[in-house]
Amino acid sequence: MITGSITSNTQTPTAGTPSLSRDMLNPKQLIDEALLPVAGDLEALGPLLLKLLECNTISGNHILNHVLAGGGKRIRPALFFLASRIVGYSGPHLNPMAAVCEYVHTASLLHDDVIDSSTVRRGKPTPNCIWGDEAAVLVGDLIYARASELMAETGSLEIVSMFARAIRLMSDGELLQLEHLFNPAMSEETYLKIIKHKTAVLLAAACKAPAVLGGASAADCEALSEFGRCLGYAFQLLDDALDYAGTDSIFGKRTLADFPEGKITLPIILLKSLATPAEWNFVESLIHEESVSAASMKKILELVDFYDTAGKTLEAASKWTESALTALAHFPPNSARFDLENLANRLLVRFS
Ligand code: IPE
Ligand code: IPE
Ligand code: MG
Ligand code: MG
Repeated sequence: MITGSITSNTQTPTAGTPSLSRDMLNPKQLIDEALLPVAGDLEALGPLLLKLLECNTISGNHILNHVLAGGGKRIRPALFFLASRIVGYSGPHLNPMAAVCEYVHTASLLHDDVIDSSTVRRGKPTPNCIWGDEAAVLVGDLIYARASELMAETGSLEIVSMFARAIRLMSDGELLQLEHLFNPAMSEETYLKIIKHKTAVLLAAACKAPAVLGGASAADCEALSEFGRCLGYAFQLLDDALDYAGTDSIFGKRTLADFPEGKITLPIILLKSLATPAEWNFVESLIHEESVSAASMKKILELVDFYDTAGKTLEAASKWTESALTALAHFPPNSARFDLENLANRLLVRFS
């Protein structure tokens, strides 16, 4: 079982004391509190996200409204704004580039939900579910393209090349994941490569971008990139733990979805070495099943609970958060650094 629970909303969880339970208290509040230092920036970003995007079709605008008018945690622009304070960047590209961070993420989710045939995200039906796969994919493309125009407007080749690389690797990560769907032999190394590509590279780019825009030193750029990269691993590991340990209502999307989709994530990979050979053979046989019944899923969950592999995945996430904080220690201990540290710690108990 995953042990421990958050008993107070005002408590600040630290990287060293991760805890979650299926009935934990309003963890969204924990994140909202950590976002307070950039609440004004994020509030202004909301309308800007729609304003900066031009779309001439009715269905396109419906989808854009659906995915951009609230709902998400806005973690990537929040990291971007907080990082901009560490390096003292407040130039003209601040808000458009914060929008780019959210656009790239949003476009990737539009495509991801088509790939995963997901029906619920952020507590709402997905665009592919409402408007169909074709329209969802095209709006994803439209958002990527607009994000590229805004990157180009900064005049910084480094910005364009960093985000283009992130978008390329995100697709490559999803492709690698596709190649290993329903593969019980997938290694932990391959799993880590998938999460680095599909999640960590974008967080690294979001954190490093203000340093690039502000002409910060190579050491500052590297420290912020490393912070974002490590936090990205933690972020996806937690997402993968919550698929087994969260609930639909606090997660905002369907839990227990990864296994039936054939996604072999750390809570399952760890079973390979912890469970008995007979138990692992059983897990393997279910991975190969055409469709996983509720009864089979219950048995998988019992093994995950018994060997505490979702808890161990959370511990792995916590170690990545510690590495992220180590990278951030490059900067002097001021309020900007503290705010970023606080968000990193609180993300460990993030929910939609
Ligand atoms: C979801 O990201 C996809 C992952 C990388 C795990 P978020 O959890 O940031 O999604 P929203 O934007 O808040 O819905
Ligand atoms: C993360 O993968 C999605 C991207 C980074 C594009 P998941 O498939 O685990 O994300 P969710 O669970 O659908 O949000
Ligand atoms: Mg998905
Ligand atoms: Mg997931």
